[in-house]
Amino acid sequence: MRLLFLGDLVGRCGRNAVIERLPGLIADYRLDFVIVNGENAAGGFGITEEILRAVVGSGADAVTTGNHVFDQREALVFAERQERFLRPLNFPAGTPGRGTGLFTARNGASILVINAMGRIFMDPLDDPFAAIDREIEQCPLRAAADAIVVDFHAEASSEKQALGHHLDGRVSLVVGTHTHVPTADCRVLPGGTAFQTDVGMCGDYQSVIGMDKEEPLRRFLHKIPGERFTPAKVSATIAGLAVDIDDGTGLATAVAPVRLGGVLSEAVPAIWS
Ligand SMILES: [Fe+2]
Ligand SMILES: [Fe+2]
Repeated sequence: MRLLFLGDLVGRCGRNAVIERLPGLIADYRLDFVIVNGENAAGGFGITEEILRAVVGSGADAVTTGNHVFDQREALVFAERQERFLRPLNFPAGTPGRGTGLFTARNGASILVINAMGRIFMDPLDDPFAAIDREIEQCPLRAAADAIVVDFHAEASSEKQALGHHLDGRVSLVVGTHTHVPTADCRVLPGGTAFQTDVGMCGDYQSVIGMDKEEPLRRFLHKIPGERFTPAKVSATIAGLAVDIDDGTGLATAVAPVRLGGVLSEAVPAIWS
């Protein structure tokens, strides 16, 4: 099974690059399942239902989020009815929406997607390790799901790497999101779980984590907030992770970075050729 995970869409530039390019990627490389983190898709803050529909319409099978999930207030409503939309699992009980989804891939496989958020340098939340364990116990790899993907939306590299090791052999992929910068450590862990500390963003990298650099610079230099942060919008890089998953074991056989367009060096996975 060929899976593609794309990092946080940032603003119009990032989301349009993905919406325009994704149908071709799915067709050209025969991708079975695509997950996109959409937490910054609407002007850098949250996602609207209209944008969600466009991203799903372009071929995303699941859209994950993170700390910005409810920046657009309408997400509090559509989170309940949009089954491909996930918010972090370990939010307080009673939060609208769901943190996991069981989906059918284009090859017929069932894929459990789990979206959870870290707690280091982030808002206090329930224990993500225990919350993910509970989900996997209810829907174990092979017995109930052909593949399991965890989007761990977290700031600290240590927390993301610890989760990767904790889940190694029990899920197909643990991938970090939130920092908007791709790390160079993607690999298959000893137990067969594909892992990357952070997948990076789909957005304009000539920026400060996707935002136009003027305002962040002003705040760092003078400590005086001026205007709102706005997404940089010259040229987006699509940043993601390609994962090959064994149909029998549900574990990863290969993993490679994807970088398309914009200012980062291009990377088309050799495993797709
Ligand atoms: Fe983000
Ligand atoms: Fe985030």
